[in-house]
Amino acid sequence: MVETETFVPEAIAEIEEEIGDANAVIALSGGVDSSVAAALAYEAIGDRLTPVYVDTGLMRKGETAQIEETFDYMESLRVVDAKDRFLEALSGVTDPEEKRSVIGEQFIREFEREAKDADADFLVQGTIYPDRIESEGGIKSHHNVGGLPDVVDFEGIVEPVRDLYKDEVREVARHLGLEEIVAERMPFPGPGLAVRVIGEVTEEKLEVAREACHVVEEELEEYEPWQALAAVIGKATGVKGDNRVHGWVVSVRSVDSRDGMTARAQEIDWETLQRIQSRITGTNENVARVVYDVTHKPPATIEYE
Ligand code: XMP
Repeated sequence: MVETETFVPEAIAEIEEEIGDANAVIALSGGVDSSVAAALAYEAIGDRLTPVYVDTGLMRKGETAQIEETFDYMESLRVVDAKDRFLEALSGVTDPEEKRSVIGEQFIREFEREAKDADADFLVQGTIYPDRIESEGGIKSHHNVGGLPDVVDFEGIVEPVRDLYKDEVREVARHLGLEEIVAERMPFPGPGLAVRVIGEVTEEKLEVAREACHVVEEELEEYEPWQALAAVIGKATGVKGDNRVHGWVVSVRSVDSRDGMTARAQEIDWETLQRIQSRITGTNENVARVVYDVTHKPPATIEYE
């Protein structure tokens, strides 16, 4: 286990040495890794670090507000409202892999602009030890919204938590007082809610998925799932009041897993499922039905796209 008492000052000194008098940027994702890397780098070089958080509009409920609050003390923090640009770029895109690539490209565009504007020579990244192993082994490369270092011409890349495991990063986060990020939520995919709506990404579908994911995370917390989520999977007929409606179908999924490579659908009691159903259909009049996904991985994947 990492000795946080010695790790933190050493990491800060190392960043100071690497970056010198130059400027740096970091992309904040809302996860613990980039948050810890940003906090360390900010300690080292202060406002010469520009932390950039791109609000893609594909985030979970309350996520942007949480980031703004957590990093309120960093005067150089930039929150980029890119919701409309992401929606525009995704308009008409229905293929899952194309969605990923559109999102990745748009992200790079947003980040590149900020990096240039900040006159940054260095890129700080929250890469952790398992990321290095996985990308060297090629296991998860298709999941990474990668390519940043190639696109922006940086003098160097600084990775202050590159030798740490996830639980060690959490330990450091606690030491640094990043409680909100540590109490962090379950893993969330880079392309966000875009892979939790089947087919074209629209504001309406995103709103349904966002609220439903929030309900599911709250209601299933006691089951300690590795991941629990809701996805908008299509349309079906329902009855609201005296009328037949053609509304959204929301699928709820909760899985146990060690590493995401395989997963088991969790057994959830009927009352909880009914409560979830009633909250989701109750808060959104355009949802016609809620189903529970009992499929393990394989043959299904965890996300819907
Ligand atoms: P699947 O759906 O492939 O998901 O069974 C396995 C794990 O990976 C996450 N996931 C992603 N993470 N970019 C990411 O950063 C992606 O494009 C992506 N797709 C899936 C998923 O949430 C699960 O934890």
